[in-house]
Amino acid sequence: MPDRPYTLLSCGMSIDGYLGSASPRRLELSNDADFDRVDAVRASCDAIMVGATTVRLDNPRLLVRSQTRRDARAARGVPPSPIKVTVTERLDLDPRADFFTVGDIEKLVYCATPRHAEPE
Ligand SMILES: NC(=O)c1ccc[n+]([C@@H]2O[C@H](COP(=O)([O-])OP(=O)(O)OC[C@H]3O[C@@H](n4cnc5c(N)ncnc54)[C@H](OP(=O)(O)O)[C@@H]3O)[C@@H](O)[C@H]2O)c1
Repeated sequence: MPDRPYTLLSCGMSIDGYLGSASPRRLELSNDADFDRVDAVRASCDAIMVGATTVRLDNPRLLVRSQTRRDARAARGVPPSPIKVTVTERLDLDPRADFFTVGDIEKLVYCATPRHAEPE
């Protein structure tokens, strides 16, 4: 791996090229082996980013599942799971979402400056 910051894109894709469905219900394209591969990728990263729609519809925890991998991260002196990151224009995010409430992990929400500047 290069000795400078880089971004990985990890996704499951259907054989006909879809990442998700048009329905609001979460479409699970991965099997247990792939979820474990994703967990290993996640454990290797400093931060993980999903879009705000994924936070709203899928309500992901974004935590490393494997205790062995969490322990390995702890031995490297980093938090058990990567920092959680999302991007939003509308700022329509529920503070009760698992993104915010599950895991004692740093969270970052990036939003467009004009929206951020609006009064509550
Ligand atoms: N198959 C897989 O492995 C897998 C895994 C995860 C997700 N998915 C699917 O992949 C698709 C994409 O998911 P995703 O997590 O990458 O993205 P996403 O959640 O669909 O992100 C879209 C949201 O990002 C925000 N956004 C977009 N452009 C922006 C900008 N320029 N500035 C600020 N915010 C911006 C907007 O949030 P606001 O509406 O809040 O403004 C927009 O609604 C979804 O259909 C998801 O279900 C598939």
